[in-house]
Amino acid sequence: MNHAFPTGFLWGTATAAHQVEGQNSNNQWWDWEHQPGRIWRSARSAQACGWWHSIEPDLDRAASLGQNAHRMSIEWSRIEPEEGRFDSAAIARYRDMICAMRQRGITPMITLHHFTNPRWLEAMGGWLHPDTPRRFARFVTYAVAALSDLCQLWCTINEPNVYATLSYLVGIFPPGRTRLMEAVRVVVTMLRGHAAAVAAIRAVHPSLSVGLVHQLRIFEPASRSRADVAVAAIYDYLFNGAVLGALATGRLGPPFTSGVRTLPGLRGSFDFVGLNYYTRERVAFDRRSPGMLFGRLFTPSNVPQSDVGSTGRTFGEIYSEGLYRALRRVARLGRPIYITETGLPDADDDQRPGFILSHMRAVHRALHDGIDVRGVFLWTLVDNFEWAEGWGLRFGLYALNEQTGVRQLRPSGALYARIAQSNALPM
Ligand code: FCB
Repeated sequence: MNHAFPTGFLWGTATAAHQVEGQNSNNQWWDWEHQPGRIWRSARSAQACGWWHSIEPDLDRAASLGQNAHRMSIEWSRIEPEEGRFDSAAIARYRDMICAMRQRGITPMITLHHFTNPRWLEAMGGWLHPDTPRRFARFVTYAVAALSDLCQLWCTINEPNVYATLSYLVGIFPPGRTRLMEAVRVVVTMLRGHAAAVAAIRAVHPSLSVGLVHQLRIFEPASRSRADVAVAAIYDYLFNGAVLGALATGRLGPPFTSGVRTLPGLRGSFDFVGLNYYTRERVAFDRRSPGMLFGRLFTPSNVPQSDVGSTGRTFGEIYSEGLYRALRRVARLGRPIYITETGLPDADDDQRPGFILSHMRAVHRALHDGIDVRGVFLWTLVDNFEWAEGWGLRFGLYALNEQTGVRQLRPSGALYARIAQSNALPM
C-alpha cells in the first residue's frame, strides 16, 4: 500500500483560547477556577501558555515540526467584554496571531465557541437561555467580518455534546449542574446557535468553509446481554446519533424535543465536519444508577490506556480502530472531514508515539477507502490548561513547565514532524 497522504493534506495541532492564552479573566471558567475544589490540585489557568502576549515562539516550534495548519479558538469574552460592546484591540490582537501563522505557512482554522462564555452571558443562563443563539450570531457576524480576509476555515461550536454533558449532567464544568433535561436543552440551543452562526457567516462571506465540531465516542456494550446492548445504544444516540442525525436531516426527536421537530436552518448547515476522536467506552447496565440512565462506563484493565486523571480513572482506552469507525460513520454525512482533535494525555510520552502511528494509519486506511479526510489537528502542541484537570493531564507534543515557561520537545513531536514533513506514514 502507498504510504502517502493527498497533496495539500493539513497537518496541525489544535488549541482553545482559554487553555493557552493566559489571563482570560472575563469568562465563566476564570470564576470557576477560583472556586475551591473545582480544579484538580487547585490549579489555575493563570498565564497558561502565554499566547495572548506572545504566540510566535510556539508557532516557530509548530513550523519547525513541519506543521502546515493550526486550529485555534477566539475568545468571545475578549471580543465582546460587555453585551453589545466590541473591543477592536482584541480583534487586532487576533489578527496579529493569525498573520503570524500565515507568515509561517500555517493555515489557520478558527473555532468561534470552545467551552467559554463571557461572564455577562453566563449570568443570563448561558446556553440554557433561548436568546443565546441570537447573541452568539451577533458576535459571530462581528468577528468573522473582521477576520474573514485571513481565514477560510471556520468551526462554529466545539463539542455541544461534551459541553452539555460536563456542564449540565456530570457537573465538573461550570455551572456545575447535574440535570439531564438541562443538558438536553443545552444541546438543542447549541445546535440552534450553530445554525444561526452559519447563516451569519454565509451572510458575511458566502465562500467561507464552515463546520460544527462533534466529539464521537464509541460506546461498546460490555457484553451481548440485551440490557448492556440497550444502554450502550441509548448512550450512543444521546451523545452521537442525535447530533449527527440532526446535521443530516435538520430534525431532532425525544428527549431533545417533544416529538420530532425540525430546527430551522440546520439541515445542510455545514461545508465540512470537524471530528474529535479520543476513545472508546464500555457500557454496562447498572440498576443502581438511575441518574445515569441505568448505565455504567468503564475501561477494562487489560486494554492499553492513557494517563489517569483526577477521578482515578484513565482518560481512556487507546483504540485506533475507533478513529476508523468514527470516520466511516461521519462520512455518511457526505462532506469533507477534518479531524479537529485527537490525542492522549501521556506525560512520559511512552505511549504517544504508538498512538500517533496507529491513529494516522487509521486515517490513511479511511482515505484508501475513499473517505474525504482533509487534515488532522492533534491535541495539542504544548501542554496546556486542561479544564477541570488543571495541569494534571499532559497532551502536548512539547512538555511545558508552567512555572518557568520552559518547553521541551517530546519524542512523539519528532515522530509527528516526520509524518508531516514527508506527508506520508513512515515505512
Ligand atoms: C476535548 C476538548 C479540548 C481538550 C481535549 C482533551 O474534549 O475539546 O479542549 O480538553 O478534550
